Amino acid sequence: MHERIYLSLAQMGGSEQAFIKEAFDTNWVVPLGPNVDAFEKDLEAFIGEERHIVALASGTAAIHLGLLQLGVGPGDEVVCQSFTFAASANPVAYLGAKPVYVDSEADTWNMSPRFLEEAILDRKAKTGKYPKAIVPVHLYGMPARMDEIGAVAAKYGIPIMEDAAEAIGSEYKGRKCGAFGEFGALSFNGNKMITTSGGGALICRTGEEARRTMFYATQARENRPYYYHEHIGYNYRMSNICAGIGRGQMLVLAGHIARRRAIHALYTGLLEDIKGVEVMQNPGAEYDSNFWLTCMTVDPAVCGMTADDIRLRLEAENIESRLLWRPMHMRLSMRIVRSTATARPSGFSTRDCAFLQARRSRTNRSGRLPM
Ligand SMILES: Cc1ncc(COP(=O)(O)O)c(C=O)c1O
Repeated sequence: MHERIYLSLAQMGGSEQAFIKEAFDTNWVVPLGPNVDAFEKDLEAFIGEERHIVALASGTAAIHLGLLQLGVGPGDEVVCQSFTFAASANPVAYLGAKPVYVDSEADTWNMSPRFLEEAILDRKAKTGKYPKAIVPVHLYGMPARMDEIGAVAAKYGIPIMEDAAEAIGSEYKGRKCGAFGEFGALSFNGNKMITTSGGGALICRTGEEARRTMFYATQARENRPYYYHEHIGYNYRMSNICAGIGRGQMLVLAGHIARRRAIHALYTGLLEDIKGVEVMQNPGAEYDSNFWLTCMTVDPAVCGMTADDIRLRLEAENIESRLLWRPMHMRLSMRIVRSTATARPSGFSTRDCAFLQARRSRTNRSGRLPM
């Protein structure tokens, strides 16, 4: 049996340890320091559009602090994409608000602008209030239909907290994902395109928002010569050690993205003649996914196997793959936080015939495909 092939392993570029050593040598082993500052600058240069970026302990923390600054609180509703990872919506519950789920559309697998508008109008009619924020996601790296989503958001004056956790380097109409919303979140979790071993960042439009983010991320400590707090704060800043890893990873980010796109192209070519299997593609020229994970849908009636049959076959070969996210409105944990079940029934995200294709890991250098 060959070495296990993982879905998405962290890959170091080689210079990470030098940045960490520098932190040790200069005794910056704390949640601030030169690596944090430099990592933020690197990210700002990468995202562009004069955004201000604050490095945090996780992508979830970034969404939390973004929603907090959009004024989300108890009694509010936030429109979330149902077809996503739980961390897109959990911060809504942290703030005592309720998620309102909308289904995805078939082209991008992301929030349907049409269902978004229906959900907004539905909530206004039923509660008398518009939702407080919208959380679209660029799932598996595929950009959401941001022009249309942005137009609906602007029409009703609702700000966007953009979840770009999986989409660093993805572009929509030539703009980087994460730069579209009032706030954008990135994740540097161990399974992401680049990692800081665990971490995230909040992309802000203004320096003032960035300062406020740092304030809340450092226990909301007031600028006084003694410890004094007027607000509830969080311990969410990224450590200078983790940011050292991030600086090293920024040097290899372009290479990582190119590699994931090449893996996607490889699978697309190899699977194109298999009936009942469809590999997710950019739906048009304006979309440029980083293809963080290569995904496909399986029609068992045509293919003769379910997605899970294929997953188990791969597992028997020591290859990791996963079924796609289970939609949020179908999950028990979200029923417990009393989500408002207004997911629009296109049925897209309730198809359970989709799965994530395994990628070749660094350890599998033979060039042999895992199928
Ligand atoms: C879509 C999505 N949103 C949010 C997150 C949260 O990021 P983190 O794990 O860094 O908290 C993740 C990843 O884990 C994710 O995939």
